[in-house]
Amino acid sequence: MAPKDLKTYSIAEVSKHNSADSLWIILNDKVYDVTKFALEHPGGEDVLYDMAGQGATESFNDVGHSVDAKEMTEEYCIGKISDDDSKNAKQPNIKMANLVAGKLGVVTGGGSGIGRAIAQMLGRHGASVLVVDIQEQHAKETAELLTKENSKGKFAAFAADVSQRDEIDNLSKYFAKDFAKQSPDFLVNSAGITRDSFLIKMNDQQYDDVLNVNLKSIYMVSIFKMMYLFFKLITF
Ligand SMILES: NC(=O)c1ccc[n+]([C@@H]2O[C@H](COP(=O)([O-])OP(=O)(O)OC[C@H]3O[C@@H](n4cnc5c(N)ncnc54)[C@H](O)[C@@H]3O)[C@@H](O)[C@H]2O)c1
Ligand code: HEM
Repeated sequence: MAPKDLKTYSIAEVSKHNSADSLWIILNDKVYDVTKFALEHPGGEDVLYDMAGQGATESFNDVGHSVDAKEMTEEYCIGKISDDDSKNAKQPNIKMANLVAGKLGVVTGGGSGIGRAIAQMLGRHGASVLVVDIQEQHAKETAELLTKENSKGKFAAFAADVSQRDEIDNLSKYFAKDFAKQSPDFLVNSAGITRDSFLIKMNDQQYDDVLNVNLKSIYMVSIFKMMYLFFKLITF
């Protein structure tokens, strides 16, 4: 197939094909369906499962595949990555997987927007995520989405107002007791609010609310509760 005839896929589409039933990888911006080939792969199927749904160029090159192996890849080529996504399909994907695969994390504000997108990205790269949001239903939706999108990793939702110490206490306990029974490897603070107003009209409550949710929560979640509880490995 001439390159110009190749079907175009987004990274998001490729990432859905991340299991033994449908296993796609990206090499140099081209998309390969290696579902059947995985079982015949001379390097074993596990290395391909580890790369399922992601960019695998760096790993492929690191192995030093022979010219024959490189030619063989063409048989499994089904498309190319869209121009918009092509930059992201390269090394950062693999580096991200190396960083977070198999790790455990918390994403606050994970029920929506940037937090949800980060949770999805982490899930796609093999991490387990506890999605925290003041909107319980939204947190649940993200956790369900992650479970649907990824064959690996553990995903759950927890409702908490991260500006409230007692709710962070409960979150810490839930993480250590029910979700992971160990310390989280990373914490993403994406919970945030805006209370936009003309300065002259803004009241103290609005100002305090923004600082408490956007700033103080990070200090409370990161330093006092999560870190203390988890890194001291306190058990409940
Ligand atoms: N979207 C942007 O372009 C942009 C740009 C710069 C900064 N930001 C900031 O980044 C943060 C996230 O932005 P977004 O676009 O994802 O916003 P968003 O409103 O889509 O998501 C924020 C999430 O935080 C949750 N949340 C709010 N208060 C909470 C609380 N007390 N406890 C727990 N969860 C709480 C909300 O329910 C929501 O799900 C915000 O602070 C925002 O101001 C956003
Ligand atoms: C369509 C994609 C691929 C094809 C066609 C392919 C093909 C091959 C072939 C033919 C070999 C035998 C050795 C050689 O000829 O070089 C091989 C070995 C191997 N491959 Fe792949 N491969 C693919 C993707 C990958 C990926 C993505 C990885 C890593 C994540 C990988 C890891 C390995 C390893 C570890 C070996 C064993 C090397 C050794 O024993 O020295 N392969 N592959």
